[in-house]
Amino acid sequence: MNLCALKLTIGVLLASAILPPSSSYKVESRHKRSPGGGQPKFPDEDRSAEISGEGRFYDGGVFTRMSYFENCGAQPIKYTPPKFDTERRPRIRNGTCAPYGAIPWTAQIQILKDGNYEHHCGGAIISEFHIVTARHCFGSEKDAGIMRVIVGQDNMDKIEAKEMSFSISKVHLHKGYQSEGPHSYDVALVEIQPKGDGQGIRFSAEVQKICLPDDSLPVSDGLNCIISGWGRTRPIGNVQTECLRAVTIPLISQAQCESMYEYSSQRILNNMLCAGYEEGGVDACKGDSGGPLACYIQGSYKLVGVVSWGYGCGKANNPGVFTRIQPFVSWINSRMI
Ligand code: ARG
Repeated sequence: MNLCALKLTIGVLLASAILPPSSSYKVESRHKRSPGGGQPKFPDEDRSAEISGEGRFYDGGVFTRMSYFENCGAQPIKYTPPKFDTERRPRIRNGTCAPYGAIPWTAQIQILKDGNYEHHCGGAIISEFHIVTARHCFGSEKDAGIMRVIVGQDNMDKIEAKEMSFSISKVHLHKGYQSEGPHSYDVALVEIQPKGDGQGIRFSAEVQKICLPDDSLPVSDGLNCIISGWGRTRPIGNVQTECLRAVTIPLISQAQCESMYEYSSQRILNNMLCAGYEEGGVDACKGDSGGPLACYIQGSYKLVGVVSWGYGCGKANNPGVFTRIQPFVSWINSRMI
C-alpha cells in the first residue's frame, strides 16, 4: 500500500516568540552535542560574534551565549507550537504557521517535476552538510539527482532571509527498508553539495541543527514533542506552500501503539515510534514524510523520530508512525565522516 495515504493536521495558533529583555546574561553552554561530537566549544576569541555565528539564546530565565556552529538542538526563536486537548481539537484544515525560523532544524527536500522544483519531503538538519530524512522519500539513489535541499524555508513562493538551497551530493539509503512493508528502517542520510567556498549550511537563529539522541537518552511516553512540515492539512488536498506548520503531540507507548495497529496490515516494530492522540485530530500527513519529531530532552531538542507512515491522517486510533532515530544513531554517525 502507498505509505502516504495520510494526512497532516498541523493545526496551530501562534505562541508568542518574543524574547524577554536582556536582564541577565550568562556565558554558559547547556546544550550538548550529538553523540561522538565531544563537548560544545565556543568559537575562537578572535572571531567576531557575527562571523562565528554566536548568539544569545533565551533559556528559561537567562540569556545563554552559544555558538550557532557548535551546538545542536537550540531554538533561538522561542516558540512552542500549540497542542490540542480533547476540547480544542482543530479541524485538520485549520493549520497554523510557526513564526519564521522557530523550528530551525526543519529542512525541505524538493524534487524537479516538469522543469519546476516542488515540495517532496521534510528532513532534519543534523550538521553543516547532513540531513536526516525518510528512506521512502527515494526510490533509488539516482532520485537524489533531481532533488535539492532547502533550509531556512517558510513560504515556498518566497525567498526567505536565511533560505539556502543545495544540491545533493550523496544519499545513504538504509538497506533494511522494504517498500511493501514492514516499513521499518525508514531512514536515509542526505549529504549536500558544499557551495563554491566549501561551505554548507550557514547557521543562524533561524537555521539550526538538531541533536541526535544518544542510545541512553531517556525518551518517555507522553512526552510532548514537535512535528513540523509542509504536508497536507487534510487527507485529500494539496501540499501547503504558504508556511511551515508545526504542532505539539505526545509520544505514545509502544504497547499502546502496537495494540492500536494490531489489526492493520502493517505492524508497529521496535524501530518505530508513535505519537499523537488516541482521538486523532492532529497528525503529520502526506508531504510531511522525512520531517522531524523533535523532543526537548536534557536541555536541547533531539531528533527522536522521522515522519514515516500512518493510516489516513489524524484518524482516531491510528496515530502517526515515526522511524525511531535512537537505534540508527550509529548508522548515521558512521556515514557522516
Ligand atoms: N508517507 C507520508 C509522506 O510521504 C507521511 C505519512 C505520515 N502520516 C501520518 N498519518 N502521520 O509524506
